[in-house]
Amino acid sequence: MEARIAVLGGDGIGPEVTAESVKVLDAVANRHGHDFTFVTAPVGGHAIDKFGSALPDDSLNIVLGSDAILFGAVGGPKWDDPRAKVRPEDGILKLRKSLGLFANLRPVKVYPQLVASSPLREERLKGVDFIIVRELTGGLYFGKPKRRWENLRGRRAVDTLAYNEKEIDRVVRVGFELARMRRRKLHSLDKMNVMETSRLWREIATEIGREYPDVQLVHMLADNAAMQIVTNPSVFDVIVTENTFGDILSDEAAVIGGSMGMLPSASLSGLPRAGRRRRGGRPALFEPIHGSAPDIAGRNIANPMASILSAAMMLRWSFGLHEEANGIESAVEAALAEGYRTADIAGKGERALTTAQVGDLIAGRVAG
Ligand code: IPM
Ligand code: MN
Repeated sequence: MEARIAVLGGDGIGPEVTAESVKVLDAVANRHGHDFTFVTAPVGGHAIDKFGSALPDDSLNIVLGSDAILFGAVGGPKWDDPRAKVRPEDGILKLRKSLGLFANLRPVKVYPQLVASSPLREERLKGVDFIIVRELTGGLYFGKPKRRWENLRGRRAVDTLAYNEKEIDRVVRVGFELARMRRRKLHSLDKMNVMETSRLWREIATEIGREYPDVQLVHMLADNAAMQIVTNPSVFDVIVTENTFGDILSDEAAVIGGSMGMLPSASLSGLPRAGRRRRGGRPALFEPIHGSAPDIAGRNIANPMASILSAAMMLRWSFGLHEEANGIESAVEAALAEGYRTADIAGKGERALTTAQVGDLIAGRVAG
C-alpha cells in the first residue's frame, strides 16, 4: 500500500526516537512492498522559537494531507515559564483537538526480560497486560472557562472539567469494543463520590454496558485504581477513563514495566471496523507516552522502543497491516531477549547501546 506519514519529532529526544521509527517503517516497506512517504514538520518549542507558534499552519496542513502522524515529544525547560503566552504543549493539544482524536490507547505490557528493572516485586507482575483508553479531547484539558486573572483579592485561575453525553459515550464504547477483542473485562474509572462529571460518566457507562452483556464492567474510583495499579495490576484488562485521570495513571502504569521508554500510544478518532484500513478522513496520531526528556536529549542514549512500538500501532490501527505490526513487536521482543538495552533498561553490568544502535538492530530484524 501507499501511505504518506507526517513525522513531527518535536523537542528533546523526540526527533531522535522518531528517526529510529522511520528506519523501522522503511524496513517494513522494503520487506512487504509498501510505499511509505515521510514528510517532516516542526512542532513544539522549537516551532515557537522559529515561527512563533507551537503548531504553525504549514505543519497543520502537512498533517491534514497525511494518512497518519508519527509524533515525538514536545516541551523543555527553555519554554517552561508559567507566564508564557504560547507553550510547546499547545502543539500536541491542538492536534488532538482539531483532528478529533478522542480515544488514546496506551497498552501496558510487562516484558519478562525487564522485570528486574521494575519497581514492583516480580510476583506482582505475572500476567500484567492491560490497555488504558484515555479520553483525549475533553475534560480538564479543554473545558471552558480556562483562564487566569487578578482582582483586589489577588490572583485567581480556573480550569473546567466538563463532559457531554456524546463525548463519554463514544470513548466508553471504544473501551467495550477493545475489551471484546481481549479478555472481556472493562474497568471504568471515575470519582463519582465527588464529581458530577463522574456521576454522568458512571451512568452512561452502565447504560452502554447493557449492550455488551458479554463484557464484565467494573466501576472503580480512580484513586483506588492508582493503588491497584501498583498492588494488583494483573486484574486489569481494559481501563477507560477521563483525560486527566488517564494522563496520570498511564505514567504510573508505564513504569511498572520497568521503563517509561517502552510504552507506545495511539490517538484515534474511533476504532476502525475490524480488519479495514482507514480511507480518507482525518489521520490518527502515534506517539510514545514518555516526554521530551531534555536531560538526555541530543546524546543518542534515549530508548527508541516506545516510538517504534507506536509505529507498530500505526500499521495496525491506521493501515490495517496486522502482520507488519506484529513483525515490529516481535523484533522488539527479540532485541530484548538477546539483551540489547538502552541505558534506561540496562541492568547492572549490562552494556548500554545507543538509540541508533537499537533502532538499527530492530530495523535489521524487521527486514528479515
Ligand atoms: C501525554 C503528555 C501530554 C499530556 C502533555 C505533553 C501535554 O503528558 O501525552 O501524556 O498531558 O497529555
Ligand atoms: Mn502524560
